[in-house]
Amino acid sequence: MSAPAGTGPGAGTGPMEQPALDPEAFYDQLVAELHARRATVSAAEQAFGADRPMMGAELLEWLCFQAWYEREAAAFIGAWLRDVPEQDAFYGLTKQVADEGTHFHLFARHLEALGGSLDTWVPEPEWVEWVQVFYPAGRDTLERVAAHNIAGELGAVNAFEGLLTRLPADTVAVLEKVIPDERFHVALGRMVVTRYATTAEAQARVRARVEEAFRVAQLGRLAFERRLQALGA
Ligand SMILES: [Fe+2]
Ligand SMILES: [Fe+2]
Repeated sequence: MSAPAGTGPGAGTGPMEQPALDPEAFYDQLVAELHARRATVSAAEQAFGADRPMMGAELLEWLCFQAWYEREAAAFIGAWLRDVPEQDAFYGLTKQVADEGTHFHLFARHLEALGGSLDTWVPEPEWVEWVQVFYPAGRDTLERVAAHNIAGELGAVNAFEGLLTRLPADTVAVLEKVIPDERFHVALGRMVVTRYATTAEAQARVRARVEEAFRVAQLGRLAFERRLQALGA
């Protein structure tokens, strides 16, 4: 099985001179850092809709965002598949595409049952930058999965778990179908990083993508808060 592009001898400069961390210790350290950073940001950056109960127009807005996000995830991960040489990652990502498509269907159907629609819905500029520009832009499996399956999926699991006590029961029932799949996507990210981020250069690239993913995700959550205020929700 070939190493991801950019991880072979001679790839990059600078970090190559540092010894690589044990990949499992490296992954655990990244997750601990994300956890610590999330604990220091504002409520609106920690969770969609901060810590308020979510209902009415605010719930419809979140369901629109979430359905759109799931559809975009299915699309950009699907677009990677032509260029995933790692057999184990390819297999996991094919399952993930199907999962994200199912999540889109679940959220969109629930949105429609509550009287909402994506038909005239337009994403905020921060969401376009985060989901349609940043996530798809990774150069190889490692960079793509580092951004989406570490920072993005851990953020999604964290957001969903925080929402469980703030949502109506029928929306919680949808989330309970989705959360186990998102945990699988987190585990897939861990598998890819622990198998392929084996050099200091690869670990530096992973770290950079994770940090940027965290930053753009926080901007996305703040944009949600701004959108709600504009709607008077
Ligand atoms: Fe999903
Ligand atoms: Fe996912």
